[in-house]
Amino acid sequence: MGNYPLPTDKALSGVRVLDMTHVQAGPTSSQLLAWLGADVIKFEAPTGDITRQQLAHVVDGKRQESFYFKMLNANKRSITVNMKSKAGQEVFEQLIRKCDVIMDNFGPGVLTRLGYPDEKLQELNPGLVIASIKGFGSSGPYSDYKAYEPIAQAMGGSMSVTGDPNGPPTISGAFIGDSGTGVHLALGIVAAIYHRTHNGGKGQIVEAAMQDSVMNLCRVKFRDHLRLLGGTAELAEYGPPTLGLTYVPRALNDSGGGHIGNAIPCKPFGPNDYIYMVAQAPVVPVLLKEIGLEPDDERFAPAAARNKNQHEFWKYVSEYTKNYTKQEVTARFNELDIPCGPVLSTEEVVADPHVLHREMWTKIEGHPEGDYYTVGMPVKLSLGEVDKKYPSPGLGEHNEQITKDVCGFSEADFNRLKEAGAYTLPPKK
Ligand SMILES: CC(C)(COP(=O)(O)OP(=O)(O)OC[C@H]1O[C@@H](n2cnc3c(N)ncnc32)[C@H](O)[C@@H]1OP(=O)(O)O)[C@@H](O)C(=O)NCCC(=O)NCCS
Repeated sequence: MGNYPLPTDKALSGVRVLDMTHVQAGPTSSQLLAWLGADVIKFEAPTGDITRQQLAHVVDGKRQESFYFKMLNANKRSITVNMKSKAGQEVFEQLIRKCDVIMDNFGPGVLTRLGYPDEKLQELNPGLVIASIKGFGSSGPYSDYKAYEPIAQAMGGSMSVTGDPNGPPTISGAFIGDSGTGVHLALGIVAAIYHRTHNGGKGQIVEAAMQDSVMNLCRVKFRDHLRLLGGTAELAEYGPPTLGLTYVPRALNDSGGGHIGNAIPCKPFGPNDYIYMVAQAPVVPVLLKEIGLEPDDERFAPAAARNKNQHEFWKYVSEYTKNYTKQEVTARFNELDIPCGPVLSTEEVVADPHVLHREMWTKIEGHPEGDYYTVGMPVKLSLGEVDKKYPSPGLGEHNEQITKDVCGFSEADFNRLKEAGAYTLPPKK
């Protein structure tokens, strides 16, 4: 990444983040802050974020830095600090004084074991926003458990409601436990910064737990849980029978929303040749007519009948869609105002003209191993986002720059700290 100018006119310009996060949940959060203009200092153990090595990309037999790391750590600077050395702690403490936010997603108790419980951090900098992701938060029966994405999906309700009712619970391809929690944390950080600005510069502790975040993202499934009324009511819009159930079942591709919906196959019947469509009540007569039925067909026109006969309804729709490609059906249905979209493979998404127009598949230039693509910034602010995305930093690339420019240490101090092992692991005995 080299030295790039920090933006001075973006939403979070002037906010400095000490980013101790690793793997996915934390880095995805701090990258959002970086893209909103914050100065994000990726603070790594001398061994580096484990994702630098994981799922490594091999080109012509040469191992490159992983896309896992590159796609989650753009627009950050990197400093390596050995927190288990006295000199490393000197650098860390100075950074704490100079930063507005510290972020981590370590396992339970790691910062305390390193000698830095929240109280100590607050003592060093009372204005500090102390933000962390934990699997289950800092208190409660599971607070000592580590967590990874699928564990959070399992324990937040998501797995039990995803997949085939006759098959096993299924994880979602959307990483709602990791990246989803990162988004929640970013909201908490921004709120804490706002609060600090209006409350005499007082920092606070912000925590996002993965189980909590998954629950939040499954909110409407818990709505359905309540609607089951302990087994005495049913979810009329679900395909599988639900009367008598005391929990929300898996329902494959049923929309489970206010209008029934489903994934319908199209020609030429490849793995992703489907549309997803929603039978939105006001357009049902138009839809029925389009697929060759009477607009007031009593089996499908009234919502209650449509819910009850949905398997037959989808068969009729499939009879129609089998004659067209997913793009053709999408174009025609949208013409008729019927909510519908093609199921796009990753290959199709990254080539999609609308995705490209929105810069959601965006090129990052200037990485020593070559330019690469990443998923863009999903929140668009007219005055907020950085103008350019810079590549992820090399490990410890900014040790000297950050020590001098951010910490305010002199050249002599930097050399002393380096000599004393602040940035490296001690040699193996
Ligand atoms: C993801 C997770 C399971 C990984 O577990 P892990 O690899 O054992 O890593 P931990 O975070 O528990 O521990 C990090 C270790 O590195 C050490 N470390 C971290 N930064 C360091 C530094 N700069 N210098 C020296 N040591 C450092 C810590 O002291 C700790 O060592 P310890 O266990 O001896 O105290 C765990 O971090 C976790 O549960 N995080 C919270 C939930 C989460 O974010 N999960 C999703 C990840 S995408």
